[in-house]
Formats: sequence, C-alpha cells, structure tokens
Amino acid sequence: MSDLFAGEGTCVRLDDGVAYLPAHALPDDDALLEALQGILSAAPLRHMVTPGGLAMSVAMTNCGEAGWVSDRQGYRYAREDPVTGRAWPAMPALFRALAATAAAAAGFAEYSPDVCLVNQYVPGTRLSLHQDRDERDFAHPIVSVSLGLPATFLLGGLQRRDPARRLPLGHGDVLVWGGPARLRFHGVLALKDGLHPQLGARRINLTFRRAL
Ligand code: SIN
Ligand code: FE2
Repeated sequence: MSDLFAGEGTCVRLDDGVAYLPAHALPDDDALLEALQGILSAAPLRHMVTPGGLAMSVAMTNCGEAGWVSDRQGYRYAREDPVTGRAWPAMPALFRALAATAAAAAGFAEYSPDVCLVNQYVPGTRLSLHQDRDERDFAHPIVSVSLGLPATFLLGGLQRRDPARRLPLGHGDVLVWGGPARLRFHGVLALKDGLHPQLGARRINLTFRRAL
C-alpha cells in the first residue's frame, strides 16, 4: 500500500473480514469530540476491575442501550451504568452514522450498533490480547474509531498463540473486523508519549458493537 493512495475515502481490505479505513472519521472529528464530551460528563471514565480483582489500565465508559462492564462477577453488558445507577447516555446519531458508513464500506450492510465502548489510553497504557466475545450474535462486525495520539494495534488470529500483525492507527482511522475475522484476538501496545492538538496526551478509541 502506498501512502499516496492512503487517505480519506480509502478502504483497504487487510484480511478476510478486516478493513482499514484511514482517516474515515476525520471530517467529523470536531463533532465527534463534542458529542464525546456530553457522554463523558454523563458517564465518567473509570478504571473497571477484572474478574481477578485488578484495575484495568484503560479507562472506560459507554454510550448506547447497554454498556460493557467488568467487575469481580465477570464481563457482561449492562443496561445501567453501575457508577451512576442510571442508563448509559444515548448513542449520538453521528456515532451511529459513522459506524454504519464504515461497516458498509467494509462490506457489512445495515450495521446498527447498540453499544459504543469508549476507551481512554494515556502514555504507557496498553490493552492485552483478547477477543470481543460478550456479544449475543457474532454475525455483526466490530467497528473501531481511533482519536488522539497514534497507537499500534495488534491484530492476532483466532487462537491466542497466533502471530499478530501490527497496525498503526492514528487520529480518525477506522478499523472494521467481522465475518471470519470477528473473533480474532486483538490488543493495543503501550501508548507512546506525545501531545495531540485536540486531545492532548491521550488516545480515545470508540468501539461499536451490536451486543444485545
Ligand atoms: C478494544 O479492543 O476494545 C479497543 C481496541 C482499541 O483501543 O483500538
Ligand atoms: Fe476488543
């Protein structure tokens, strides 16, 4: 792939079921960040605890009909935010539309996510290899939108021991995985120091799921 041809409007099929859409979210970045502010004030970022009792280094929150949560009882989707005791903030129409256009470009028509997990990374934060498998129906893809500092995404295989390819994901980049790739292991290497003009020393990732 040549940099000359990578940019807004491009859809690179990386593997069966995996598509990389560089800068797909860039035209909407200010509006996305403004909508995100509303979500973060209604449902603050927090460090969830793993079933084993360790605080996760990624800070998380959600919007949509349910939210992904982890605590001593395990991983699941919950309709209420355990921190506020209220429903999660609604998914902004712009979020929904962005996820749907990215999924369609990747070959997944009529994607209608009901959950958006918001992950915040600061320098040093990493996310270890895992599968997204708490959703009810794996027929729906995962759509991931990166904002802020660049990160190295690890895209493994269907087995934890499979080699992982390294994908650089920058501000506005979108990655979609579904179909035969839906249960591929993935993670994020430790975030490097830096300052992003809009987000400062942070990376925010939005992952859209059809969970319920
Ligand atoms: C995730 O796997 O939930 C997040 C991936 C990312 O931050 O790029
Ligand atoms: Fe994930």
